[in-house]
Amino acid sequence: MKETRTVLKRFSTLLGIFCGLTIALILVSLYFGGYFHSSVPALTNSSQTDSHSQADSNNYWQPPSLSEIPKDEEGDLILYGRELIMHTSAYLGPKGSVKPISNGMNCRNCHLDGGTKIFGLNYAAVATGYPQWRERSGTMVDVEERVNECIERSLNGTRLNENDKELKAMVAYLKWVGKDVPKGTVPLGVGMKKIAFLDRPADPNLGKIAYDKHCIVCHGANSEGEMEPNGQEWLYPPLFGEHTYNMGAGLYRLSKFASFVKYNMPFGTSFNAPILTDEEAWDVAAYVNSMPHPSKDLSNDWPDISKKPVDHPFGPFIDDWSEERHKYGPFTK
Ligand code: HEC
Ligand code: HEC
Repeated sequence: MKETRTVLKRFSTLLGIFCGLTIALILVSLYFGGYFHSSVPALTNSSQTDSHSQADSNNYWQPPSLSEIPKDEEGDLILYGRELIMHTSAYLGPKGSVKPISNGMNCRNCHLDGGTKIFGLNYAAVATGYPQWRERSGTMVDVEERVNECIERSLNGTRLNENDKELKAMVAYLKWVGKDVPKGTVPLGVGMKKIAFLDRPADPNLGKIAYDKHCIVCHGANSEGEMEPNGQEWLYPPLFGEHTYNMGAGLYRLSKFASFVKYNMPFGTSFNAPILTDEEAWDVAAYVNSMPHPSKDLSNDWPDISKKPVDHPFGPFIDDWSEERHKYGPFTK
């Protein structure tokens, strides 16, 4: 009897220690697993994050984990779509294995981390945001059409057909990325973070100085970019010249370029620790977009000219500003 009690007592002590250890282990792994940390994905382990954004960081959108992709036919299509967005050039570039319809850039050159980076042109709002009315085309646009717009402009290419598996796959991936965003809501950190206007024109000469300081190491002296050793895609994509986005692309507008680079470049920069000043971002945008880009027939764009954004640099306009001012600003009245 006494012996049984001792055994029981020993057993319960052991059990107590075991439970204690398990709980401690769970807490430690949660801690190091990042559960209590900021959930903002940052490419750098930057310690410069300011306390304000740190405190708010739990409210930022978080992309689903790749492990949530179903292991079935639909999942395979999503995975193929992701592959196309990460390595577009290998399939659809000048030497692409499926068909050569685009300029050799990858979607993820701009839609960073495959369209999952906070304020890195992510796709958080694509699943819930389409079809939508677009003033640029003056039509309703669905996700398929929006992808083709980027192919024709940002990839200076030729559109995919509705029935192409590649288009279906990219759309499946885009919808999957935003699947957890409730309808009618706009998650924090979506798309791009807007940069404030300068009260002077953006200056290409100052932009060249900023370029040499912050960009030249990767993008090159003539922005010729640099190829991956496999010769199939860009390690550092070009910013101007014949292999880059055309004059109809979003980045050809100074406000979009400045917003993108301020919060994402030099590569690895996150929105809560920007490196460029606002002036550098606008000026470098002016420099890059004053250099040659492929042209595009834009005569059907913005059919209602009163809806043209202030930094669309091609007339006619409803105001009396020159094309020069609509390109470089100042955009403040
Ligand atoms: C040169 C840069 C660049 C490349 C390359 C690029 N895009 Fe885009 N994309 C943009 C910009 C800029 C926008 C507009 C964002 C805005 O206006 O806020 C955009 C918008 C989009 C949108 C709409 C996002 C939204 O929230 O409504 C989709 C979808 C999209 N792109 C898909 C693609 C796909 C797919 C590819 C590759 C085939 C691609 N893009 C390649 C720059 C690029
Ligand atoms: C450390 C290297 C590095 C530096 C420095 C850098 N970039 Fe980039 N940049 C990249 C890489 C890499 C990509 C493509 C990202 C990807 O595919 O994941 C990129 C993409 C871009 C893009 C979108 C794709 C394109 O070709 O249009 C723009 C615009 C851009 N960078 C502008 C700049 C500007 C302006 C600067 C200087 C303020 C700069 N970058 C500094 C590495 C760099």
